[in-house]
Amino acid sequence: MNVLVTGGAGYIGSHTCVELIETGHTPIVVDNLYNSSAKSLERVKEITGVSVKFYEGDVRDEALLNKIFDENEIGAVIHFAGLKAVGESVAKPLAYYDNNLVSTMVLARVMGNRGCKKIIFSSSATVYSGDNEMPLRENSKTGNCTNPYGWTKYMCEQILRDIAKADPDWSVVLLRYFNPVGAHKSGKIGEHPNGIPNNLMPFISQTAIGKRKQLSVFGNDYDTHDGTGVRDYIHVVDLAKGHVAAVNYMQDNKGESVFNLGTGTGYSVLDMVKAFETANGIPVPYVIAERRPGDLATCYADPTKSREVLGWVAEHDQTDMCRDTWNWQSQNPNGFDD
Ligand code: NAD
Ligand code: UD1
Repeated sequence: MNVLVTGGAGYIGSHTCVELIETGHTPIVVDNLYNSSAKSLERVKEITGVSVKFYEGDVRDEALLNKIFDENEIGAVIHFAGLKAVGESVAKPLAYYDNNLVSTMVLARVMGNRGCKKIIFSSSATVYSGDNEMPLRENSKTGNCTNPYGWTKYMCEQILRDIAKADPDWSVVLLRYFNPVGAHKSGKIGEHPNGIPNNLMPFISQTAIGKRKQLSVFGNDYDTHDGTGVRDYIHVVDLAKGHVAAVNYMQDNKGESVFNLGTGTGYSVLDMVKAFETANGIPVPYVIAERRPGDLATCYADPTKSREVLGWVAEHDQTDMCRDTWNWQSQNPNGFDD
């Protein structure tokens, strides 16, 4: 089936293109390259032998979307395109609401007009309210988001949920990712954040390669086994496979469904540092710093529903995540700019 992948040149999107191709689907990508490089799709071709059809442009551009639907028979859409930097969203809320909400609404309108009513949306564990018990289940409380980025995910979920309610022909799958890390085992595609990384694993790998002097561990006085924050890290290839499972699920299921994509296991910051050092034999110098505002002590998924309904489970372990992160980082110290 032809699957339109918005944001398909990005980190999760490029890995999902590989998994779609390897399971017999045909990804068609639209991306404005705001946070990515078209070289990622050349690498997808190196991995799979398949050239991905690519439209460079903005998902908010309705004429472009109409052109894509004119030129291709689209069976389903995976909507990755969006801005995702939490700190930047606090500084530039309007840019985040505009990009993330308008892209989703324009896309859904064009899809509805064209009778393509199957959409998978990239949501996030950030939509869960901070006062839930762990592990987080799909029916745990949502809302009370701490930043505009989180609110855009919350609002897009609601928009898509309402569309599915209004028209029973729609199939809407909301995938709530936990903490995506790692890279394809070939080392050809991976994550290369612009500037100083905000997220833990890119910071660890950039420290290991000498681009950063040391990691700052944000707080060691949380109520966790070693005092540092605990998260549910998930290998990006497992995450990508979760999207293929959702594409298949949508063939026979209408309405709105929500799934956690996580492993169900939480690791602390220091667990990840030690695992990275052990897996790769490289030291990661660190200092203990102040807590980061807005951080929770612990956040991890209950992935039971994804296992039972989608038939999907995360297969990569912590060592795979650390090894593949380093394999990508060491082969591509400057991302796709090499
Ligand atoms: P990414 O930045 O690598 O990929 C997003 C892609 O969308 C980029 O290639 C960017 O150029 C493109 N894009 C952004 N706005 C666009 C627009 N208006 N039109 C066309 N293209 C546009 O990010 P990612 O890590 O691959 O994340 C993919 C999705 O998953 C995002 O929606 C993100 O919010 C969500 N998500 C990511 C994480 C994470 O930790 N990486 C966690 C939860 C949810
Ligand atoms: C962050 C975002 C979340 C987003 C997710 C994507 C915030 C508050 N939340 O979540 O909205 O969906 O990324 O993966 O930004 N840490 C350090 N030092 C660092 C970086 C991180 O100690 O330099 C710690 C953090 O305090 C946290 C853990 O590492 O305990 C993971 O942090 P991070 O990778 O930023 O992910 P989240 O905070 O879970």
